[in-house]
Amino acid sequence: MTKDPDIDLEEFWARALKTHWNIDAELSVLPGELDQNFLAQEKDGSKCILKIMRKECPHWLIKAQIEAIEHLSKKDSSLKVPMILRSSKGASFIDEVDWFGNERLIWVQKYISGKCYAEIKQKSPAISFDMGVALGQVAKALADYKNESLVRDFKWNLPGSLWIKKYLTTIEDSDRLKIISKIIDDFEEILPTLSSLGQQTIHNDPNDYNILISGEKYQSLNVSGIIDFGDICVAPRVCDLSIAAAYIVLDHTEPEKMLAAFVSGYHSVYPLDIKEVDLVWRLLRMRLAVSVVNSTLLASKNKDDAYITISQTPAWDFLENFRINEGLIKARLKSVCGMPVVEGADRTMDWINKETNKFFPLFGTQLADVEIKSLSVENTSVPQNPFELQNDEAKNIGFEIRDRDNFWLGYYNEPRLIYTARAFRLGPWKASNRRTVHIAIDVFADEGTELFAPLDGEVFIAEYRENQLDYGGVIILKHTTPSKDEFFTLYGHLDPIFLNNLKVGDKIEKGQKFCQLGPPDVNGGWAPHVHFQLALTTEGMEADWPGVADPDDLIFWNAICPNPAALLNLKDTDCLYEPSGKKELMNDRLKHFGGNLSVSYDDPILISRAWKHHIFDEWGRPYLDAYNNVPHVGHSHPRINQVALDQLNKVNLNTRYLHPLQSKFAKKILSKLPANLEVCYFVNSGSEANELALRLARAHSGKKGIITPDEGYFGNTTGALSISAYKFKKPNGVGQAEWVEIIEVPDDYRGSFKKDDPDRAIKFANLIDGAIERLNSKGIGLSAFIMETFPSVGGQIIPPQGYLEQVYGKIRKQGGVCIADEVQTGLGRLGDCYFGFEFQKVKPDIVVLGKPLGNGHPIGAVITTQEISKSFDNGIEFFSTFGGSNLSCRIGTEVLDIVDQENLQQSAKTVGDFLISGFRELKKRFDFIGDVRGMGLFIGLEIIRSDGSEDPELCGYIKNKMRENRILIGSDGPKDNVIKIRPPLTIELEDAQMLLATLSEVLEGTIDWS
Ligand SMILES: Cc1ncc(COP(=O)(O)O)c(C=O)c1O
Repeated sequence: MTKDPDIDLEEFWARALKTHWNIDAELSVLPGELDQNFLAQEKDGSKCILKIMRKECPHWLIKAQIEAIEHLSKKDSSLKVPMILRSSKGASFIDEVDWFGNERLIWVQKYISGKCYAEIKQKSPAISFDMGVALGQVAKALADYKNESLVRDFKWNLPGSLWIKKYLTTIEDSDRLKIISKIIDDFEEILPTLSSLGQQTIHNDPNDYNILISGEKYQSLNVSGIIDFGDICVAPRVCDLSIAAAYIVLDHTEPEKMLAAFVSGYHSVYPLDIKEVDLVWRLLRMRLAVSVVNSTLLASKNKDDAYITISQTPAWDFLENFRINEGLIKARLKSVCGMPVVEGADRTMDWINKETNKFFPLFGTQLADVEIKSLSVENTSVPQNPFELQNDEAKNIGFEIRDRDNFWLGYYNEPRLIYTARAFRLGPWKASNRRTVHIAIDVFADEGTELFAPLDGEVFIAEYRENQLDYGGVIILKHTTPSKDEFFTLYGHLDPIFLNNLKVGDKIEKGQKFCQLGPPDVNGGWAPHVHFQLALTTEGMEADWPGVADPDDLIFWNAICPNPAALLNLKDTDCLYEPSGKKELMNDRLKHFGGNLSVSYDDPILISRAWKHHIFDEWGRPYLDAYNNVPHVGHSHPRINQVALDQLNKVNLNTRYLHPLQSKFAKKILSKLPANLEVCYFVNSGSEANELALRLARAHSGKKGIITPDEGYFGNTTGALSISAYKFKKPNGVGQAEWVEIIEVPDDYRGSFKKDDPDRAIKFANLIDGAIERLNSKGIGLSAFIMETFPSVGGQIIPPQGYLEQVYGKIRKQGGVCIADEVQTGLGRLGDCYFGFEFQKVKPDIVVLGKPLGNGHPIGAVITTQEISKSFDNGIEFFSTFGGSNLSCRIGTEVLDIVDQENLQQSAKTVGDFLISGFRELKKRFDFIGDVRGMGLFIGLEIIRSDGSEDPELCGYIKNKMRENRILIGSDGPKDNVIKIRPPLTIELEDAQMLLATLSEVLEGTIDWS
């Protein structure tokens, strides 16, 4: 083809594509370093990639690539590689002259949709595993593709990486030079092993731009393609794996988990050998070294190109800052591949298990019949504050057993909340992952109790750690099995008195007394006990063994530190803790409970403990509770617990007897309400309260008709349901009763009158007229207007200012009663006011209160005027057995006092304002946040599609992703597209920051969808 002055480059090559492949497409340039690539799109939308090779590109290399790809496609058409499109004449490539007269090789590949891995946001272990699988499958299928020309030495052939040694002078920074030199030394050490491995054809460049990822909306991501076979060569397959791994570990907070997931994915389809797994870490570092040296070299030649240097930042960051022990990484990779974590691990465990009952009893007496006590998240409430174990709590753990017995045992693999120091947290937030699972056995006994060596050993560590809640005196012994395998045992919380006569290297004989339990003042502050742990290696840990592991990393830590029961002459199962199983509980639910009992989140949570605004699952994983409003003053509030216990110890009877608590509670509530409200009725729930409110209104008005906004919820009793449009309107719902009239919710985002309409409050209020009219015309007449002051299940709606004033005016004119349901909005949640109706500047005739009033204890209350109360007092007793019990009154009063004394209303304002302004910032960045609304800690985010309609799928996705990231939020609204945030009022700014940062990450992840 010749150059035509009237056409551009794209058109020039489009003609070539048409001529040789008969593909009529529009071309657009794709980025490329040496070769030129075009995206070709045909009219019907089908796409391919036209590749114009650089002029000096050798034919054999392209032929080899094409052959290899065709080999792969033939072997397994499901492999994620780009199919070669042959020309009209059946050629896999064509020689064509470019418009400068240079001969260029051109070829065409089918387009694969997706984004390159480098560009996606959700870099999770799951996608890393999938990449391992995809690369393993390609490598496996390439194993029998032979091509002598691919046995080649060039700069990206990993075994030949030592070429960088010649260029080390280009690295000016001496610290960096040290890092690279160490990597080279390490690499040279493994070269003989690498050279001994078999070789095969490998892709050799599965870097983060050559792996494509795609995902449908709301779905998890998958690998869609492995592209660019330009560096294909023959080498040990572990090189291919390590090259991909070198990019997977970059820019991630948990690179070791990403790497482990990747290697296990690869291993699952193309099993690796231990020898290969042991090389991965050094090879991946060598690849990064080659990459940074290569770039430094390029940068020194292209001084103006800042990008070359910038592009290496993640690699340098990783090499400079990510300190991880090679031994531990190797062990981790082996554990995910199901291999023994250290050479001989299986032999050692077999020997230990065989020797059970022959070990010298650690305390001179067998422990088989000793009581075992759980300190698990589920079974104990120590510590009361799971973020701060108190010294007294540590000192007194299990004291009730110690009074009974000399010895008691603590479980292996037991999740506990007693490890509260910051060092146990694995992230910046209180609800970040944390290490909770005890990977040792405890034996509790009196201080001074002596310990005897279970078997021969040598002192490996003997030291004193003085910090509170550390080990105090600690000894590690090294043991050797008859097959010469080494293993180690650790004894913590000892009296450091052993330091007088034990030193590292000393031999200890089986049965020798070698230490004694320390008292709390020298054992780290704990109830006297020994923490007895077994480890199959100390590589990477030395003296610093984690005694507690992250529950999500337990497989690995169980492999390094297995159950030491056998060394105590116990069976593993005697001391192995297993928390309640989620699956079994779910099955029980299905079997023994109604099917319409719902459970939150795609992956339900088993909640075992809670404190303030955090909850903990059965493994001790913390979650930020940004959803539950019942624990108004915080979960497990010590004051509530204390008064409840005290009251139960005194008396708990009903309102038929006099008790000052009843008046005290009533006066406390009334002190918060307008003066016209003087009479309280105490009940057990919001439903019961609303039911009673309806009876009061009807008694007073003598009419039956109720007007209420659409989508409201007032409870689950028959009357409350009848006025809850949110329920009765649903398919299979009971339907609208004749005496109920619904009006439009005053929602100025989605409703008939929008925010920009200054008269919207009046216009919404005017809708009342029709409803009154309808009730009158049916001959039913108006009894009351009832509204959740700010509708919650309706989508966290804040009615326009002035709305209730208008509505109440109209209702009262007709002799109707105005009922405010403040179950969701009352008691300071809104920050600016104690009750929602204050904000609307109205005084209701009846106020309904519910769940937050008892902080979890069932309390409801109805407060009304003397007049209404008198109308209701018709000679028939009003009695609610549990309503107004001494206990309820005591708890209710305490809740209200706590709101005042802990300044929770003010805090709701401060944290709420911070959250709302943070959400408004997010709204500017993400079009799918249609509206941010709320007051204080009553907040809604409306999630919409690009056409403005409700997007419940995205809302559900966000809710579940937040749960995955340890934050509980809910969703609501008529179309379930409003994210609902209404945490306990104890939530703090630090938690709000976590919420905003996490939500931002989750929302950013949505750009990964194709
Ligand atoms: C506004 C409102 N009123 C009443 C109720 C009913 O309360 P309970 O479930 O305690 O009966 C609820 C419950 O969610 C509510 O949100």
